[in-house]
Amino acid sequence: RSGDLDYKVASMALADFGRKEITLAEHEMPGLMALRREYAEVQPLAGARISGSLHMTVQTAVLIETLVELGADVRWASCNIFSTQDHAAAAVVVGKYGTVEEPKGTPVFAWKGETLPEYWWCTEQMLRWPDGQGPNMILDDGGDATLLVHKGVAYEKTGVIPSINEDDPEYSEEYAVILDFLRASLAADPQYWTRTAPSIIGVTEETTTGVNRLYQLAAAGELLFPAINVNDSVTKSKFDNKYGIRHSLIDGINRGTDVLIGGKVALVAGYGDVGKGAAESLRGQGARVVVAEIDPICALQALMDGFEVSTVDKAVERADLIITTTGNKDIITVAHMSRMKHQAILGNIGHFDNEIDMAGLARSGASKIEIKPQVDEWRFADGHTIIVLSAGRLLNLGNATGHPSFVMSTSFSNQVIAQLELFTKPNEWDKEVYRLPKHLDEKVAKIHVEALGGELTKLSKDQAEYLGVDVEGPFKPEHYRY
Ligand code: NAI
Repeated sequence: RSGDLDYKVASMALADFGRKEITLAEHEMPGLMALRREYAEVQPLAGARISGSLHMTVQTAVLIETLVELGADVRWASCNIFSTQDHAAAAVVVGKYGTVEEPKGTPVFAWKGETLPEYWWCTEQMLRWPDGQGPNMILDDGGDATLLVHKGVAYEKTGVIPSINEDDPEYSEEYAVILDFLRASLAADPQYWTRTAPSIIGVTEETTTGVNRLYQLAAAGELLFPAINVNDSVTKSKFDNKYGIRHSLIDGINRGTDVLIGGKVALVAGYGDVGKGAAESLRGQGARVVVAEIDPICALQALMDGFEVSTVDKAVERADLIITTTGNKDIITVAHMSRMKHQAILGNIGHFDNEIDMAGLARSGASKIEIKPQVDEWRFADGHTIIVLSAGRLLNLGNATGHPSFVMSTSFSNQVIAQLELFTKPNEWDKEVYRLPKHLDEKVAKIHVEALGGELTKLSKDQAEYLGVDVEGPFKPEHYRY
């Protein structure tokens, strides 16, 4: 804490470097800068108290400062223990007009390499304003902020919280940490979550995994406030999840290991949007890529794209690199790891670390040698070793710096628009999960086409009538899949 601002970051001395990189990123994020120009005078987010849980990177700094320029009061935490870029976090706290001694920016609670208790402490700080009130808006990535509010309300009402996942030891540890927090908050302020939750107008959710959680809550009738699924804007999942991963997967592998990818066999589990970007990036480096899928449609796409399709069980012994992209759990087991090649590289790029059985690995008797932060070599009894990136957590953010600015500009433009939609029309939503309308998706795309120097063809009135669309769009029906 310094002055009026409460925060916790690794080192405020990094703020100057952070500001320089944020300034470079602004130029690469034309969508966010266009939204600033469009709305800065109107201040449509004045009165919004936004709690944000999303990887605290340079790109996220530009998102935070866009929300602030539109009038919002913001608090932030990272949604992953390894993904914070400490210089970005410090620069956001200092703000554009503050100094290290007198920061005037946004409270951030995030640093690279948090422990699990620290992670949930940061999440709680981000959800509590110093005046004892909570947020009226949540911006989430993976759903942990939303989860804490829901568990808090359940705990205050019943004295118990349903386990996140009882049969998963890794999650039981997380469950115990959350339970500790909720006990402490109940003791300090017995009505905090039940008092705060009704003021929350809604949440905008960034990623596939968080969106899955929201649809499950809505189906069970347990969703406490409306939600906008940002992930399934076309200009999010078909760009960030695919082209972002195409860039940042090999960035993470290279910075983590510097192993030549060309000529190696790479096994990619999952061929959804993330899997497609992952497989393409590995092939781009000359790897021979094998894809594992459960969904025959995605498996057929992988074959048509020229990849071999097999199972993890069959391909695991010949793979030099194994990457999970499923958003599902238990994809790579200890039995798989014990059959891997000597010095095979194992990493996950899906949202949570339960894709790879890290808890099982720790119990297996294999010994861990830390090569450097976020790169561990695990030695099995037979002498063979495997190299595990980011302890099974998303490696593009743990071993590298996540997706680059331009693609995050498309994602975050959708985030800002979704916050605007929810906050400025609070009475238009039920406790359900919504997607943004197509004309806003096309608006985000248009800004980025123009920024890249692309020239759009204009429909004639005649052609538009023939197709049955408006000259200005939307150009496709809802069922179109891109
Ligand atoms: P998706 O649903 O499009 O793709 C996942 C694919 O995995 C599906 O095709 C599914 O059929 C397949 N799958 C599920 N279980 C499987 C199994 N047991 N074996 C083989 N394949 C299986 O989801 P998307 O958008 O590709 O996201 C995947 C994960 O990546 C999510 O957790 C998401 O939150 C995360 N994500 C991570 C990013 C990052 O920067 N690291 C960026 C965007 C998303």
